[in-house]
Amino acid sequence: MPRALVTGGAGFIGSHVADRLLKEGFDVHVLDDLSAGFRRNLPPQAVFHQLDINTKSASELVEDTAFDVIVHSAAQMDVRASVADPVFDAVSNITGTLNLLEALRRSERKPRFVYTSTGGALYGDFETPPHAETIDKDPASPYGVSKLAVEYYLAYYGRVHGLDYAALRFGNVYGPRQDPRSGAGVIGIFCDRILDGRPLTIFGKGMQTRDYTYVSDIVNAGWLAATRDLPPPGRLDARAFNVGTMVGTTMLDVAALLQRAAGTELPIEFAGTRQGEQQESFVAIDKARRVLGWEPQVSLADGLSATYEWFADDRLTGAIERP
Ligand SMILES: NC(=O)c1ccc[n+]([C@@H]2O[C@H](COP(=O)([O-])OP(=O)(O)OC[C@H]3O[C@@H](n4cnc5c(N)ncnc54)[C@H](O)[C@@H]3O)[C@@H](O)[C@H]2O)c1
Repeated sequence: MPRALVTGGAGFIGSHVADRLLKEGFDVHVLDDLSAGFRRNLPPQAVFHQLDINTKSASELVEDTAFDVIVHSAAQMDVRASVADPVFDAVSNITGTLNLLEALRRSERKPRFVYTSTGGALYGDFETPPHAETIDKDPASPYGVSKLAVEYYLAYYGRVHGLDYAALRFGNVYGPRQDPRSGAGVIGIFCDRILDGRPLTIFGKGMQTRDYTYVSDIVNAGWLAATRDLPPPGRLDARAFNVGTMVGTTMLDVAALLQRAAGTELPIEFAGTRQGEQQESFVAIDKARRVLGWEPQVSLADGLSATYEWFADDRLTGAIERP
């Protein structure tokens, strides 16, 4: 039976990836320190290791276990938290990842390492979207900088140490299990507000665009990146793939579409622009189409309905502690 490790597998994206790998017949291990994830997201059939990626125990797990695939999604993923504390962001996102990459360098085993990078925070505001993988990158936040730094390390480990990797640059991912308390993931936050009957808050004028991508499409991309033949490692972007819809939707439009799905008309409140926030963001996906054979399947309207329904059901079962 093939074996996979999903770091961050108690979180939003990682838990969906773990579900898929189980469905595909993998023996799935999850490594997560539960700093932002939840036990309830863990698939019962997975082997759970409650560990910080920065620890010796985490590197020993990676060095000593015969994994065929590692999907690395453990990270601090909040742009605002990275602006407030870039050191914390770098320790989580850069040194934590390096700890795992060094373990792989020491190991005899060569699993495919799939990195969950960002297309939404990597490119910055100097180039007009849709952003292709190869454009110049000037991240607007320390979070974007740390994600880009890891991609440089991946390219280095690929060239010099034969690391077999893929870097997936996601748009703005949404769907069931997204944590509305995380401060990231506006759709989860809006769903919570709608269910509370509170106004929706938009930072800035609401004209900033995002490439909203439903989580099942992200999982499909992860599966293809884990299993497909890939071009040889080389320059930074050789094994990087944007994963989005190639459509930029404004914050105002997403609020309106979600309210339509929910059947509500709550007022919008406007607050000041947030530091480190990219203004325009949507990604070109020709490369993922061509090389991975990937295509987004879920329309924004359908994805928003499914997400809102999940949040409404979740209220009934009441598992998330709300602020
Ligand atoms: N959600 C998005 O829109 C989005 C977009 C682009 C990229 N990403 C990337 O996808 C990945 C997953 O994001 P998510 O939205 O599922 O976030 P999430 O917070 O739900 O999941 C991250 C998980 O990692 C765990 N974690 C954090 N630090 C850890 C550490 N030091 N050691 C072990 N576990 C740790 C958390 O407990 C959590 O379960 C992240 O790498 C993020 O940067 C997310």
